[in-house]
Amino acid sequence: MISIQQKHQLPVPSGLLQVSRLPQSFSMDGSAASTSSLVFPIYFSLIIPTFNERDSIEKMVAQLSQILDEVLPNDYELLIVDDNSPDRTWEYAQHLTDQYPNLQVMRRQQERGLSTAVIRGWQAARGEVVGVIDADLQHPPEVLLKLLEKIDRGADLAVASRHVEGGGVSSWSATRRILSRGAQLLGLMILPRVLSSVSDPMSGYFLVKRQAIAEIPLNPVGYKILLEVIGRGNIRQIAEVGYVFQEREVGESKVTWRQYKDYLHHLVRLRVDSGRLGHWGKQINFPVGRFIRFAFVGLSGLLVDMALLYFFYAILSFGLTRSAIFAGELAIVNNFLWNDRWTFKDLAQKQFGRQQTLKRFLKFNIICLMGLILKILLLNLLFNGFHLNAYLANFLAIAIVTVWNFWINLKLNWRVTQVN
Ligand code: GDD
Ligand code: MN
Repeated sequence: MISIQQKHQLPVPSGLLQVSRLPQSFSMDGSAASTSSLVFPIYFSLIIPTFNERDSIEKMVAQLSQILDEVLPNDYELLIVDDNSPDRTWEYAQHLTDQYPNLQVMRRQQERGLSTAVIRGWQAARGEVVGVIDADLQHPPEVLLKLLEKIDRGADLAVASRHVEGGGVSSWSATRRILSRGAQLLGLMILPRVLSSVSDPMSGYFLVKRQAIAEIPLNPVGYKILLEVIGRGNIRQIAEVGYVFQEREVGESKVTWRQYKDYLHHLVRLRVDSGRLGHWGKQINFPVGRFIRFAFVGLSGLLVDMALLYFFYAILSFGLTRSAIFAGELAIVNNFLWNDRWTFKDLAQKQFGRQQTLKRFLKFNIICLMGLILKILLLNLLFNGFHLNAYLANFLAIAIVTVWNFWINLKLNWRVTQVN
């Protein structure tokens, strides 16, 4: 039997972060339910991501419902996506569903993070138009009317902006203003097309037509979901509406240095995916971004190897072979740790546990050893067979073996069936 509390609790979609063209329902295990279960589309779904927002959520829901009941009676839904907040926002929000029938709550326990929370909400949404607003009353709800109007007039994306007429920040310190503008400037350098298409690319308050982002796998990092929508979406017409970013009345911002790091990471990822290399990679189904990380790790291993060889050979006066073996093995350990925690992090998380990690490490060792043998064979072939210059031959051999190592590790060690 379904309890009252669960009545308005939405299942959390799992798998790819991708919005379907038509609304879809999900089963409790997160998979898309069979097509036989019809989902009735509505006009508008607004996602309200929350993390410890118990004190502001009721006011927020009340204000939004009042506005939307008037302009879109029974043609909208509010979806709170809460990441299992310690203050139990999800539970509190569920109590509100009796009073607000257009409200539903999704409680995520497996995944975390603002951007993915928003996408999971959109995946479960029934709206033809989907949107997002902060839960802490810093985004004025009444601006929604203007945003809806822009969509109605043909925009694919309507963004609430602090940097157009009528927009601003209420009382930010000079430092925060500078940081905010600095981040925008950096973005302009790395990803000019995306950053220059709106005045406030950091905005977390916007609406977008479902069809503009449907069937496109999204892959954001951190806070700035709008970058993802503009960077990967199929957006032709963008409109902006000014708003004043309000001071927080209750609770606290979750922004830390981590968000700046994530932001940079996100910019670089979008850059790689949308650049020429990324397109070429997609065509031949080669994970370019992952390979670049793997190659960087390889470079770090080279430095570790050289430094340790010096340490064992010149400082500790070990024999050259013994020094080379120690240095080589420690470089392999270095590379393994970086690859496991960075290059293949997502895949490593799917095979967790100490034993699994040890298994990956041993396999990595074997693959590296085979790589070494392959390198020596190639070097000989290029040098003796093709009479190339020894250093050029060595360079080519290293390049080929790096690709080989990467591919074998991807397919046989960290293992991915569907290349992404
Ligand atoms: N589900 C979920 N998971 N929600 C989260 C998470 C998370 O990990 N982190 C934050 N949120 C929710 C918060 O509860 C809030 O409703 C909203 O996301 C924004 O978080 P804040 O921590 O209040 O962010 P902010 O006010 O400092 O930052 C905002 O800066 C922009 C202006 O540059 C952004 O969030 C933008 O939305 C905003 O426009
Ligand atoms: Mn906020």
